[in-house]
Amino acid sequence: MATPVRIGMIGYGFMGRAHTNGYKRVPDFFPELGHQPVLQVACARNEENIAKFAKQWGYANIETDWRKLIERDDVDAVDICVPNNLHREIAIAAAEAGKMILCEKPISMNTAEGEEMCQAVEKAGVANTVWYNYRRVPAVTMAKQLIDEGRLGRIFHYRANFLQDWTISEDLPQGGAALWRLDAAAAGSGVTGDLLAHCIDTAIWLNGTVSDVTAMTETFIKERMHTLTGKKQKVEIDDACAFLCHFSNGSLGLFESTRYARGHKALYTFEINGEKGSLKWDLHDLHRLEMFDYEDESRLRGWKSIHVTDHSGEHPYMDKWWVPGLQIGYEHSFVHHVADFMKSLDEGTPCGPTFRDALETQKVCDAVLASAKNGSWEQV
Ligand SMILES: NC(=O)c1ccc[n+]([C@@H]2O[C@H](COP(=O)([O-])OP(=O)(O)OC[C@H]3O[C@@H](n4cnc5c(N)ncnc54)[C@H](O)[C@@H]3O)[C@@H](O)[C@H]2O)c1
Repeated sequence: MATPVRIGMIGYGFMGRAHTNGYKRVPDFFPELGHQPVLQVACARNEENIAKFAKQWGYANIETDWRKLIERDDVDAVDICVPNNLHREIAIAAAEAGKMILCEKPISMNTAEGEEMCQAVEKAGVANTVWYNYRRVPAVTMAKQLIDEGRLGRIFHYRANFLQDWTISEDLPQGGAALWRLDAAAAGSGVTGDLLAHCIDTAIWLNGTVSDVTAMTETFIKERMHTLTGKKQKVEIDDACAFLCHFSNGSLGLFESTRYARGHKALYTFEINGEKGSLKWDLHDLHRLEMFDYEDESRLRGWKSIHVTDHSGEHPYMDKWWVPGLQIGYEHSFVHHVADFMKSLDEGTPCGPTFRDALETQKVCDAVLASAKNGSWEQV
């Protein structure tokens, strides 16, 4: 019988649903794991709403104050699915109570807060992870395997984009439950922490650490009505950000993100170019990995599109799902993250990205924002 890991989840929005779906699928699709999640407590401030959510998704209990959830003896792991300005306080309290922690990204509002959070989990010795879920899309995991096998050789370039278009209207307010992402007090930053953080986490995972950056940001709409005050207020987040960087391995990086690219909803793409080959990936076609292998026979050289759905165990995670050729989706990256967290408990190993790993991404975000402000190259 598997050891239960009783989850206390704080927040029931987009990520609350994505994570809960992950917890629910793991016992069915990863039955061999020695630890298995149990939906123990769901928490949000509005009792009626959280009771409805808990009933629909199968949580045994509810709380309306996250401090009460942390005090409970029947919670082993705290899952932080709330806006960024709440991550630090909840994570530190959970670590002090000896709970394992699964925290949403970006880890914190800034590096100083993230450092405090790392120290808290390290001092308490509790298992921890940050939900940079794109690492666990099978095609992205396979890119990591191919790079680690040395198939690209020396790396020269890394480039990534994350493009959306949902904030173009001047009439869109900022702040409050629905639009906290536009309010710097709740989000910390705009596209840098929200979208580029994903690109940076993947980049560091695939290509190693970033040493320095130079960036530009823009806030296209300077004032928006604030939902909480009812007044027009200055917009303090970055609507768009582009940056150049050096990686520690000597390669060059180019990153861009915006919420003003009309027509794009969640176009996360990356490409990496090495001496012996290149890889490309696109979230809109997430089960495909494009590869150019210079070691192919010369007359057959060209970009190939690998459908990362093989069942035979050769493609990461796919032996858990359907027959070859049948694809899985966005939500499975969270299922895989939960499964890997449970596996890490079986094996007594860390589940990356840990808080410490995610702090590295936070440092790059902070350097990017500082560079855009100061007009300078910034060391990470
Ligand atoms: N990994 C990813 O791909 C990904 C995607 C989206 C969001 N996120 C991150 O997840 C976090 C949550 O984002 P979301 O999109 O789910 O937001 P959301 O607005 O959909 O949900 C936020 C939830 O937090 C709850 N909440 C707010 N304040 C609270 C408090 N004081 N006590 C208890 N509950 C409170 C709200 O009731 C709501 O249920 C953010 O840190 C965000 O950056 C990550």
